[in-house]
Amino acid sequence: MNGVTYSVLVLTALLALDGVKGKPMGNVIDLDKYFEEADLNSQERVVGGYDVPEDEYVPYQVSMQFLTRSGKMRHFCGGSLIAPNRVLTAAHCVNGQNASRISVVAGIRDLNDSSGFRSQVQSYEMNENYQELVTSDIAILKIDPPFELDEKRVSTIDVSGSDTVGADQEVLLTGWGSVFHFGTGPFAKYPTVLQKLTYKTLSNSKCKETMTQLTDTEICALERFGKGACNGDSGGPLVMKSGESYKQVGVVSYGTAFCASNNPDVYTRVSMFDGWIKERMA
Ligand SMILES: *[C@@H]1O[C@H](CO)[C@@H](O)[C@H](O)[C@H]1NC(C)=O
Ligand SMILES: *[C@@H]1O[C@H](CO)[C@@H](O)[C@H](O)[C@H]1NC(C)=O
Repeated sequence: MNGVTYSVLVLTALLALDGVKGKPMGNVIDLDKYFEEADLNSQERVVGGYDVPEDEYVPYQVSMQFLTRSGKMRHFCGGSLIAPNRVLTAAHCVNGQNASRISVVAGIRDLNDSSGFRSQVQSYEMNENYQELVTSDIAILKIDPPFELDEKRVSTIDVSGSDTVGADQEVLLTGWGSVFHFGTGPFAKYPTVLQKLTYKTLSNSKCKETMTQLTDTEICALERFGKGACNGDSGGPLVMKSGESYKQVGVVSYGTAFCASNNPDVYTRVSMFDGWIKERMA
């Protein structure tokens, strides 16, 4: 062991608090408890990135929101629109959750913007091989109504293809996750404006030096200290330029307990799930 603590990038501290209580595939995050205990009126996230400029949208990015007991809709994970009625996210974002309390919002850059479009999650499917912090952290949500695509605020992202993305490729991460290293507690700051960060992929062998549990179903990216994914970014898209458009190559999965502390971010490698995704698009 190298003494590094890994954690999923949803609302980390919760996993530690809750422990295990008879759920399908490992830890289930108690979102009721989280939103009742945390003061998220100042919401924040992507460490070291910058605001998506005003009037610019990341049209495939969606915010997954949880209906709290007090009737508020709270961002807890990211996702990407892969068809008008399908969202790709991380399995750990939905594992054990009640689909009827989750909706997704598209067409916004600011979580405060009430002019976005909301659709209800009808059901979700997690990859059958999912193991937290190990492999296949990917899930697909069926949503209704389907989003209307307008290409500026709302559009789908291409996830097709099984070509393996190598090291040193420029990739773009977007999310509403914590913008400080310490994802929860007094130092957590959650932005309402979507953050973006351009950085580079790392080879799996290099990544494995730190992230020792890494498997072929994952892809890593690394920036210097102070830049990377953080809590609340989970499930969100890592994309790569492909000609004139973008292709999604990763789904935010996990990192080390202190975000952006010079350790790689681990993503689910989308190309490994090409067949699995295609079967679930119809
Ligand atoms: C899921 O949430 C809905 C809406 O809040 C509620 O009516 C239903 O009882 C919940 N189902 C379970 C299994 O908790
Ligand atoms: C979003 O709303 C919250 C709560 O009303 C407020 O504190 C915050 O300043 C708003 N953020 C922006 C970017 O307008």
